[in-house]
Amino acid sequence: MFIMKISKQLIDPFERAITYLRVSVTDRCDFRCVYCMSENMTFLPKKELLTLEELDRLCSIFVNQGIQKLRVTGGEPLVRRNIMDFFKSMSRHLISGALKELTLTTNASQLERFAEELANYGVKRVNISLDTIDPDRFAKITRWGRLSQVLRGIEAAQNAGLRVKINSVALKNINEDELFTLTNWCAEKDMDLTFIEVMPMGDIGNENRLEQYWSLKDLEAELSRKYTIINLKEKTGGPARYIKLEETNQKIGLITPLSHNFCESCNRVRLTCTGQLHQCLGQEDEADMRNILRKYPSNDLPIIQAIKDAIALKPKGHDFNYSRKKVSGNISRNMNHTGG
Ligand code: GTP
Ligand code: 5AD
Ligand code: SF4
Repeated sequence: MFIMKISKQLIDPFERAITYLRVSVTDRCDFRCVYCMSENMTFLPKKELLTLEELDRLCSIFVNQGIQKLRVTGGEPLVRRNIMDFFKSMSRHLISGALKELTLTTNASQLERFAEELANYGVKRVNISLDTIDPDRFAKITRWGRLSQVLRGIEAAQNAGLRVKINSVALKNINEDELFTLTNWCAEKDMDLTFIEVMPMGDIGNENRLEQYWSLKDLEAELSRKYTIINLKEKTGGPARYIKLEETNQKIGLITPLSHNFCESCNRVRLTCTGQLHQCLGQEDEADMRNILRKYPSNDLPIIQAIKDAIALKPKGHDFNYSRKKVSGNISRNMNHTGG
């Protein structure tokens, strides 16, 4: 008998296998970072959000279709009410082996409370957004954040056995002078460190992207004044490329959407807290999953089809560009909407 084989792999039009899902579980955040949001943000009404049960159902369908890495983001994911229930229920896919990694990107403000529980649910490492270790500067960049709370969160994560990676947005004239301080601090605490180029995502009030932009080519050149740099081949399944500082053996990640485009190796899509699937961080395309999810409460096939249809429309890449001394490729949504 001929049995039709239904492919459990999601492949986009450029033959890229989609194995990484980033899920933004809330657009809310307890900080207001200057490159991410304006100070007065209007957040989505709670009734627009997918429930945790709906998020579970949708993410589980993705896992069944070949997603191996699930990253929970926000806004700040740990401010979503009862979010531990979601981690707990997703951990069944780690146990079954279908999911290789369950992780999150957080500002660490709530980690003191949740680190242990996250570790219990199979989270092995966390990415923590931190651009400075100077308390006053931290208050300026995040507007509402307190560094001491974040440092306690980081300590709690390490005590719970979670591997910590610090994500720092490279900001001209803002944290440029902390390059070596931050690098040394991460080395001392045995934490990985990744720098990110600032992307033109959303309205940020009076702040200016071009003034904020610090190319990681320049940052790397600065590092090479003090260290011998070795290019590493390794990948984590994310967008960073890695270098090693020979003298300290420290690994540093570089995420360079502006100075060196990495879209050809893209393996990811993003789901927002309202159930919109964004095929690319740097394009406006989206597909509504919420309607279909609610229309078919007990039949997954139309949802699988909608996911495949959306991935068949995944764009080749972003169009971010600052090279003509003006910002182009700007995206209307802020980063908190899709979670980076
Ligand atoms: P690892 O699993 O540690 O490799 O993490 P990751 O880099 O996949 O996730 P993380 O949340 O730490 O991402 C860091 C930042 O990289 C995000 O906040 C974004 O700013 C940026 N980033 C992630 N994915 C993409 C992408 O697809 N395109 C672009 N342009 N930037 C991305
Ligand atoms: N460009 C680059 N990174 C950004 N982030 C937020 N907004 C931007 C932006 N415009 C980063 C945060 C966090 C991650 C989720 O995205 O610092 O590390
Ligand atoms: Fe993938 Fe789009 Fe990010 Fe490029 S910008 S790596 S195509 S999601």
